[in-house]
Order: sequence, then structure tokens, then C-alpha cells
Amino acid sequence: MWPKRLLLLCCGFFLLWGCGEQSEQGARPLLVKPPPSEQVLRGARLYRDYCAYCHGEKGNGKGLNTPYLPKLPRDYTDGAYMREKSDQDLYEAIAQGGRGVSLSPLMPPYDQTLRPWEIWDLVAFLRTLAPQAPRKESESPFSFPQREPSPLPGPYSLSSRGLPR
Ligand code: HEC
Repeated sequence: MWPKRLLLLCCGFFLLWGCGEQSEQGARPLLVKPPPSEQVLRGARLYRDYCAYCHGEKGNGKGLNTPYLPKLPRDYTDGAYMREKSDQDLYEAIAQGGRGVSLSPLMPPYDQTLRPWEIWDLVAFLRTLAPQAPRKESESPFSFPQREPSPLPGPYSLSSRGLPR
């Protein structure tokens, strides 16, 4: 864990360094991707804890568990595939599991494990895996439960927990 954290720290340092240079020289093209939003970071953390062992660290469907899965998870880095999925599709698959949305029952339902806004965080993270893919429209009316009114203390505050663990 530590070397990873150290590496991240170094990346952060160079990132900041890069920014400094940029402001001095004016219109230089942005070489680094903008940092992910807090929501995406929360989703990434949940994904790593709950999903990566099947769906793969990179979301390409090649998790450690796949030799034991007769039906393989799909490749979420594949823009052509993700384009066909609306946020609602992803949300419902995660909440209801494969059985609930006529996919493989090996995909577990998470509506008893995760809160709605956590599932939404996961959807936001999944969307970053194939960033080039415009998403399919959700069927209206469908509104995602966003974060609960008062922000959660403790594990949800990024500053107190640090990233990644
Ligand atoms: C035990 C292994 C396993 C775990 C853990 C798991 N999944 Fe899946 N998941 C699958 C499989 C297998 C499928 C493919 C079902 C199919 O195509 O029939 C799937 C399908 C899905 C789908 C449906 C969309 C699609 O077309 O592929 C989504 C979204 C998804 N998983 C997200 C998640 C997220 C997010 C988590 C963690 C909270 C998670 N999964 C955890 C095995 C798993």
C-alpha cells in the first residue's frame, strides 16, 4: 500500500509543478487529465472494495474471480458497449443485480449493501472507464437519488481517510 501512496504523492507533486509552469508560459496545451471529481473518487473506492475482484481493477472485466465465473463481466472500458448503456441501466444492474435485470445472476444485487447515493457514485466512476463514450439517455422519468441532505461524517470525508487506502 505504501509505495502506491508514495507514487501518488509524487504524481501530485509533478502535477502541481506542471501547473505552475503552465501559468508562467500561458497557452500551453493541457497535458494531464483534470483530476476526477469527489464523486468519482468515492465511486472508485467502492469499486475497488466491492467490484474489482470480478470486474477487474481497470474495469475491463478481467478480475481475479473470472476463472470461476461461467458468464464473464463485460469490458467497461469499451466505449461502443458503454454507449448503449444509460445511467439508469447501470444503476439498476448494480442495485438489483443480474437477476433483477435479466443478466447473469452472478452479478450480485447491492441495494441491501450500498446506499442509493453510493450506487450513483459507482455509476459516475464506471462512466470514467470509457470516457469517450457518450451515454445513452435514461428513460424518463428517472431521477437518481443524489447524496443525502447532510454530508456523511467520517469515512466519506476524503481528507480524513486519504486516497487511495
Ligand atoms: C461475483 C462477481 C461480481 C461482482 C462482485 C460484481 N459483479 Fe457486476 N457483473 C458480474 C457479471 C458476471 C456480470 C455480467 C452479467 C451478464 O452479462 O449477464 C455483471 C454485470 C454488471 C453490470 C451490468 C451492466 C453490463 O451490461 O455489464 C453492472 C453495471 C455491474 N456488473 C457493475 C458492478 C458493480 C458496480 C459492482 C460492485 C458494486 C459489481 N458489478 C460487482 C459479476 C460481478
